[in-house]
Amino acid sequence: MIALASDHAAYEFKSRIKEHLESKGIAVLDCGTFDGVKSCDYSDFAVEACKAVQSGKCEKAIVICGTGIGMSMAANKMKGIRCALCSDTFSARMTRLHNDANALAMGERVLGLGLALDIVDTFLSTEYSGEERHSRRIAKVMKIEEGK
Ligand code: RB5
Repeated sequence: MIALASDHAAYEFKSRIKEHLESKGIAVLDCGTFDGVKSCDYSDFAVEACKAVQSGKCEKAIVICGTGIGMSMAANKMKGIRCALCSDTFSARMTRLHNDANALAMGERVLGLGLALDIVDTFLSTEYSGEERHSRRIAKVMKIEEGK
């Protein structure tokens, strides 16, 4: 299952991405926002989506806001979350291969819907390479959140 969250600025993309994933048989946990008009705070929804990844309920999270920046900042404060802000499919592929990213952030005000869906598909279909040098680097990054 994929956790999906947005703020008001990316409500439209959330709806379209949800439809896209469900049409492919991929289950979605919709973590809100559930109102495309009322202004809200992106961090509230990033936290909900990332908690679902932390608990193991969801394999990955997709978090979207106007730029994707606020969502990615909030997600990367959550323990165990490696969130990549992507605006191209190359980065989406590489962050899975090299960083084993478990969250994807995007900006609705940055991307067209077609590219956003390609980024989602690339991110979700690319497996982590598992190469030793990347695992070593990821382990070092994860130690940073422990203050080590
Ligand atoms: C909302 O106006 C906007 O600031 C938010 O969606 C996001 O872009 C923040 O990083």
